[in-house]
Amino acid sequence: MSAPIDLRLLPATAAVSPDGRLSIGGCDLGLLAERFGTPLFVYDEAHLRARCREYVGAFGPDGVAYAGKAFLCRAMVRLVGEEGLHLDVATGGELHVALSAGFPPRRIVFHGNNKSDEELGSALAGGVGRIVADSFTELDRLEKLVKGGLAAPRVLLRVTPGVEAHTHQYIETGTEDSKFGFPVRPGDALEAARRVAASPYLELAGLHCHIGSQIHVLESYARAAAVVVDLAAEVEAAVGAGAIGELNLGGGLGIAYHDGDEPPTVAEYAAVLRRAVDEAISDTGLSSRPAVLVEPGRSIAGTAGVTLYRVGTIKEIVGVRTYAAVDGGMSDNARPATYGARYEAFLPERATAERPLVVTVAGKHCEQGDLLVRDATLPADLAVGDLLCTPATGAYGYAMASNYNKVPRPAVVFAAGGEARLVVRRETVDDLLRLEET
Ligand code: LLP
Repeated sequence: MSAPIDLRLLPATAAVSPDGRLSIGGCDLGLLAERFGTPLFVYDEAHLRARCREYVGAFGPDGVAYAGKAFLCRAMVRLVGEEGLHLDVATGGELHVALSAGFPPRRIVFHGNNKSDEELGSALAGGVGRIVADSFTELDRLEKLVKGGLAAPRVLLRVTPGVEAHTHQYIETGTEDSKFGFPVRPGDALEAARRVAASPYLELAGLHCHIGSQIHVLESYARAAAVVVDLAAEVEAAVGAGAIGELNLGGGLGIAYHDGDEPPTVAEYAAVLRRAVDEAISDTGLSSRPAVLVEPGRSIAGTAGVTLYRVGTIKEIVGVRTYAAVDGGMSDNARPATYGARYEAFLPERATAERPLVVTVAGKHCEQGDLLVRDATLPADLAVGDLLCTPATGAYGYAMASNYNKVPRPAVVFAAGGEARLVVRRETVDDLLRLEET
């Protein structure tokens, strides 16, 4: 574990100069840190676009909705729109960002297990293309809004197929014991479909399932797809042929976070889903092939982004551990503390150096659990003031950022063709007072 950096964990345009300096999108990371400060999220715009294109190539032009929860800001919404994807939003807040960036409402898929009247009302009034209904309570709520004068929505029913995704339990959502969706097994999902099909206020568009996130075992998807197609056939038998026009099979494809991770490719993922859907259709005799959509978040944004930090303190506890503390932490990357997620760390200004030193990279928050990378391997001459980079932080990093300990959130830049543009500015300490009334 003393090799120089592994470029496979970095975005597509990452390159190392002859003097060992790492660049992304043609922009030297050391210069970006000087210009924009640290901590800083840097996204490779070409990588984001290439991942969108890879997905559209594998699933078709109307087969992909980007899951905005992974990373959302208006620049990202516009990029996703330019690449021709649909957009999945999970709250009224994400919907607001999408609409304010001019994303076509018909291409928005609205999720959430507890959408409020206000959230649903603004989605219907804004012409959102599909509502993913999650409960009987939500169906009541939608019908009431339509009776009150809003347009009838196209409804996908989120169902839980009772399948394990082999991932962290906090991000596993397809099992029967889930807060999401209508369970398939006791018959709730079928009952919900009957109800939507019979309602003059709702239009049944199809079925949705999402079994979890950071998934490496494609077989889990195949089993979920089979359960959902079975259900589609039952719905068809109950309410009529062609009732299920669309199967949205969620997101969740895993990415590489550290050396040795080998996630499946998008093409492999698409092939497994296609085969599972085709087989289930011929087994069940479903009358026509529904459109199949997926909703990737992490596998579009994750590897596209890195975080840059400045090392502020180095503390060697002899015989125990060496800590290198950086100027961010669990407020810009909650994943290590929340899921025990593991990351790598590199020095982008000494990218070709061997990395023999074992150091734990700590954040600056008031918690011992605020450790970004346990037992990172770094160059032997690590020093205070060095720039440190954690790769694969593009998904669920900025998206889950907080102001814990009143730490202002970092800036976000997009780098492409040697140019970097600020897409989200750094918060200031005055921003921390913005909501206070006295
Ligand atoms: N569709 C639905 C309905 C979802 O709930 C999710 C993720 C996705 C799509 C996108 O999944 P992805 O392709 O990004 O795996 N904060 C956690 C991940 C939570 C995922 C929530 N739902 C983490 O940092 O690992």
